[in-house]
Amino acid sequence: MARSSTVFVCSSCGAEAPRWLGQCPGCGEWNTLAEEARAPAGGGARGRSGTGRTSAARAVRPVRLSSVQAARHVRLATQIGELDRVLGGGLVPGSLVLIGGSPGIGKSTLTSMALGNLQGAGRRTLYVSGEESAAQIRLRAERLPGAALEVPVLAETDLETVLATLDAERPEVCVIDSVQTLHAPDLTGAAGSVGQVREVADRITRLAKARDIAVLLVGHVTKEGSLAGPRVLEHLVDCVLQFEGERERTYRTLRALKNRFGSTNDVGVFEMRQGGLVEVADASARFVGEATRAAGSVVLAAMEGSRPLLVEVQALVSPSELVPPRRVVNGIDRNRLALVLAVLGRHAGVGVGSADVFVNVAGGVRVDEPGADLAVALAVASAVRGIPLGAAGPEGAGPAAPVCCFGEIGLTGELRSVGHPDRRLAEARKFGLDPVIGPPGSEASEVPTLRAAVRAALPSQPRARAA
Ligand code: TYD
Ligand code: MG
Repeated sequence: MARSSTVFVCSSCGAEAPRWLGQCPGCGEWNTLAEEARAPAGGGARGRSGTGRTSAARAVRPVRLSSVQAARHVRLATQIGELDRVLGGGLVPGSLVLIGGSPGIGKSTLTSMALGNLQGAGRRTLYVSGEESAAQIRLRAERLPGAALEVPVLAETDLETVLATLDAERPEVCVIDSVQTLHAPDLTGAAGSVGQVREVADRITRLAKARDIAVLLVGHVTKEGSLAGPRVLEHLVDCVLQFEGERERTYRTLRALKNRFGSTNDVGVFEMRQGGLVEVADASARFVGEATRAAGSVVLAAMEGSRPLLVEVQALVSPSELVPPRRVVNGIDRNRLALVLAVLGRHAGVGVGSADVFVNVAGGVRVDEPGADLAVALAVASAVRGIPLGAAGPEGAGPAAPVCCFGEIGLTGELRSVGHPDRRLAEARKFGLDPVIGPPGSEASEVPTLRAAVRAALPSQPRARAA
C-alpha cells in the first residue's frame, strides 16, 4: 500500500503547512496546526488548472430528488428507553454516534449496557476499548444487567488493528471507547491530538459506512467543554450526544446536540446506581418530591427540549468579606445570575449588597434557557428575606405546596414569555404545584413584572416562629 504523506492543517482557517508551526501562517492563530494524512500525490491532488478539475475526474449526471430511492432506516433498539428516545428511536445501521462527556460520568457504563442489550437481542456487537483492559471491562460488565458479559471485547489502541478486526468481525453495532485513545500509526502526533482524533474518526466513519456498522464513538470532553478539542468530530458524525451531570451527583442527562435521524429536542435522565445506569422516566416527580420548600427554594418548570421538566432551584445568600463577593452557580449560566441580581436590585427592591450568592439546580441538572430567570430571582429573593415562598400552610408548617414558576426577566424588570408555557403549566399542575407564576400570556398566575412576581410569591410578613 502506498504510504500517504502528511501535512499540517490549521483547524481555524484551513491553511496548510509542510511542517508543524506554532503559529498559523494563514490566520496567525497559535497552536492550531494539526497533522493530517494526505493521499499520495497524483491520486487526489487537485489540479491547479483554473477549473479545479483533476485530470482523471469524470462528470456525473445529477439525479432528481423525486427519483432517489430513500431507504427507510431500520432502527436497532438499545432497549434503554431514554437512550433510544434521544437517538430518535434507536441506532441507525451504518451511522456514527459520538457520545461526549467528562471522565467518570458513565459513558462506558451506558455504552456497555447498550451493547449488552443488543447482544442479548441477537445482534452482533463488539466493544473496542483503548482505555481499559479486558479484565477491567469484565468487572464493570459483571455489575450490569442483561447480556453485558456476552459482548465480545477488544482491548486495543492501534487503529489499523481495530479497523482490520472490525472488517473481519463485521459487527452490527460497535463501541469505540474512546476515540482519543486510538492511534493512527501513519501520523506522528500523540493519541488524542487533534490530527489523530480526526484521522481515527474519519477512517472509522469510512469503514462503518461501507460495512453498515453502527458505531458509538465515545469522546472525552475537555475542560473547556468541547469534544476532542476544537469540535473536530462534530461535522463528521451523524449524531452528537452529550452526557452531562456531576460525577458526585446521582442524576445525569443525555441530550442530542446534533441528530441527522431525529430531533435534538429530547433529553434522557438517568441515575447512576450500583447496577449501572437506571432511567428516570418521571424525573419531575423525583425533583418535586425532593424539593425542600425552605427559604431560598423554588420549583422551576423548565423545558428540556420538547419535554417539560420540574427542577428545584436553590439559592443561598450569605454575608461576605470578599471583594467582589462570590457568585457561585451550579446548573445555570453565571452571566444570567449577574443579570438577575442586577434587575432584582434595581427593579424589585431586593438587593443582595455585598453578600455571597450561591445558586444551585438540585440533582445536578443543567438548565440552559432564559425561562429559568424568574426561578433564580425568586429563589434569591426568598433567601435574602429568609422566608419560604408561597402561602404558609397550617400552623406555620411551611408552604402547602412548592411554588413553581418560569419566565424570562428583561432588563427593565418586565417578565417576558418563553416557549411552551402550556406544557410547563400542565406539568406543574400534574404535580399539584400551586401557585404557578408565569409571564403575561402564559395562563398561569400571570404577573407583568419581577416586582409583582416577588410580591405574589413572598408573604409580606415573616411567619411567626414556633415558640
Ligand atoms: P464509567 O462508565 O467508567 O465512566 P466514563 O466511561 O464516562 O469515564 O463509570 C463512571 C462511574 O460510575 C464510576 O466511578 C463507577 C460508577 N458506577 C456505578 O456507580 N455503578 C455501576 O454499576 C457502574 C458500572 C459504575
Ligand atoms: Mg470510560
